[in-house]
Amino acid sequence: MSKGKVPFLDLITVHRELEQELLVVFKSAIETAGFIGGPLVQRFEREFADFCESRFCVGMANGTDALRLALIAAGVKAGDTVVTVPLTFFATTEAISQAGAHIDFVDVDERTYTMDPEKLRAYLETECTRDSRSNRVVSKRTGGPVTAVIPVHLYGQMADMDPILDLATRFDLVVIEDACQAHGAEYFSAREGRWRKAGSMGRAAAFSFYPGKNLGACGEAGAVTTDDEGLARRCQMLRDHGQSAKYLHDIEGYNARLDAIQAGVLSVKLPHLAKWNEQRRERARSYDEFFAATEQPVTVPHIPSWSRPVYHLYVVRAPERDRLLNDLAAAGVGTGIHYPVPLHLTKAYEALRFRPGDFPAAEQTASQAVSLPMFPGLSHEQQRRVVAEVLHSIAAAEPAARISSCSSGLR
Ligand SMILES: Cc1ncc(COP(=O)(O)O)c(C=O)c1O
Repeated sequence: MSKGKVPFLDLITVHRELEQELLVVFKSAIETAGFIGGPLVQRFEREFADFCESRFCVGMANGTDALRLALIAAGVKAGDTVVTVPLTFFATTEAISQAGAHIDFVDVDERTYTMDPEKLRAYLETECTRDSRSNRVVSKRTGGPVTAVIPVHLYGQMADMDPILDLATRFDLVVIEDACQAHGAEYFSAREGRWRKAGSMGRAAAFSFYPGKNLGACGEAGAVTTDDEGLARRCQMLRDHGQSAKYLHDIEGYNARLDAIQAGVLSVKLPHLAKWNEQRRERARSYDEFFAATEQPVTVPHIPSWSRPVYHLYVVRAPERDRLLNDLAAAGVGTGIHYPVPLHLTKAYEALRFRPGDFPAAEQTASQAVSLPMFPGLSHEQQRRVVAEVLHSIAAAEPAARISSCSSGLR
């Protein structure tokens, strides 16, 4: 077996291939001194709204700002409660707290790792009460009215949106999609009878263009997408110190503007995104087939019939994770863990008094997930090598140490 290293992610090759086009962006920004706002930002916003099949896109400084400002623009207020999943990147809950709201969690589905609609229903029906005056549901734990829900399209796979949207209608909740890992992912909406893009289903959605994302900037960037013109307008004001026009501050806002050079970079890369996503899907199919063809009991990724994921990450589960990680590192195979600590047990939230066992599916995934190399230029030879090293490690492990795989996401 060749002993060349297999990186977890290759961010060099793609930028070398697009170097000339990217340099034109930098040059035009330098020549016009158009660094903030302006035509590069407006152009990308139009293009990305079209890509997401959404009416509006508002560029933001990063995905965290996009999520926080989408919540505020959607009307989430101090003292409200916003419910999400514990298996996500920390930014999801930072955005909730920093919008002034309380965090509540519901567990993920143990196979898709995205919000389990049944658990959301159980939470709303049994862990909340109806306030007779406002008719709103109130969280028994936080005491605050539950006003919004954030399904996270984790690892590039959308959450099961139809039942989540039905519950949101029934309980009067705003749905904000965390689409930071899901540029181009699709969901078949049975109630609409058609495929829907990530970012087009909730009241608004937040995207991150952190460099390692399926669509990544050469620095920090993010965006909100929405069909709601008023919400888009509020996001535009919130990202720019609450200004409705220069130095006219109608509300207090933030500095969360999308840098023009990053917008130009994203416009260069966006036309390639569908092809890159397809290449990721093809790599995921290869991993599935390689694992399926072996004697080892490796479970292939669970992709429900309603999902067309974009494989931001490809995650396998290993009961003896440390051993697998060490073996792969020794063999020169890059890996990641997304995420090692479910957020209800993270140190920052000690005061919320959640306990181990509160969200078992998220806890088990967090203790077993291993993200394997996944990027559009990953070669079949490299994939064969990754699979061989994984199998070699589990074959040498105790019989109890079995591995299961699922398609997953990255930060
Ligand atoms: C699920 C999720 N939410 C939010 C974010 C925050 O995005 P950013 O890093 O651009 O602020 C990320 C990015 O890593 C993410 O993966």
